[in-house]
Amino acid sequence: MAVSGTDAPIGVFDSGIGGLTVVRSLMARLPHERIVYVGDTARVPYGPKSPDTVRRYADEIGRWLVDEGVKSVVVACNTATAYALGRLQDTLPVPVVGVVEPGARAAVRAAHGTPVGVIGTVGTIASGAYERAIHAIDPDVVVLARACPLLVPLVEEGWLDRPVTRMVAQEYLAPLLADGIGALVLGCTHYPLLTPLLAELAGPSVRLIDSADETALVTADTLDRLGLRAAERATPPRHRFVASDAPDRFLALGQQFLAGAIDHVEHVTFG
Ligand code: DGL
Repeated sequence: MAVSGTDAPIGVFDSGIGGLTVVRSLMARLPHERIVYVGDTARVPYGPKSPDTVRRYADEIGRWLVDEGVKSVVVACNTATAYALGRLQDTLPVPVVGVVEPGARAAVRAAHGTPVGVIGTVGTIASGAYERAIHAIDPDVVVLARACPLLVPLVEEGWLDRPVTRMVAQEYLAPLLADGIGALVLGCTHYPLLTPLLAELAGPSVRLIDSADETALVTADTLDRLGLRAAERATPPRHRFVASDAPDRFLALGQQFLAGAIDHVEHVTFG
């Protein structure tokens, strides 16, 4: 594995803008690190696409990030982590962290032996990645996984608490709640934006798990282990944001997520 300098940036990618939730956690935990974020807005959504297509997209972006000189890659997209993490870890010359394993660890901790619910895209749920990750930690945990394909378009529409969103979420969650889950993994970058609604529907006995913070923790550990953590800086680091389509729309939405940390979005075509 090539060891790049500690001053090199961390590469982060997602199918679109949702992965900025992971960027926010990385900035909080690793305030001296520079970040290069890629949102593949030209090809979003990844959720309904075939494993081969998602792997090809992930390969292209992973290689691009390495060519840009990153010292590690964080796969902020659950679907890309579910289908492509192992392959990226095998092929890229830098450490690669995904969101599934950190989320699984947080869920097992929070569930205290009760069943764990997992919601995600069709691809993430079909891959069985969360079940595998949870059972690798504790084979006795009951995992109830459900694809919720209607939630991403509702979030993209900005309908975070409309009656229709509430009805759809209620319908998806009903069987998981009936089976007594104690933790619910928000296994998709978009779902943390629905946290108030999902928390209300799930009730106080269900802990919602957003893997962004856990992923930032694993990234910090990985950098420390490999001696790659950036030195303290006197001024805040400059980040780069890249979109494969409509950079202006990305900038407007990104400013809602990250306020002052984003003032320009580059346009790059992949594939
Ligand atoms: N980023 C995707 C994920 O976390 C959700 C959006 C999509 O389908 O591309 O699975």
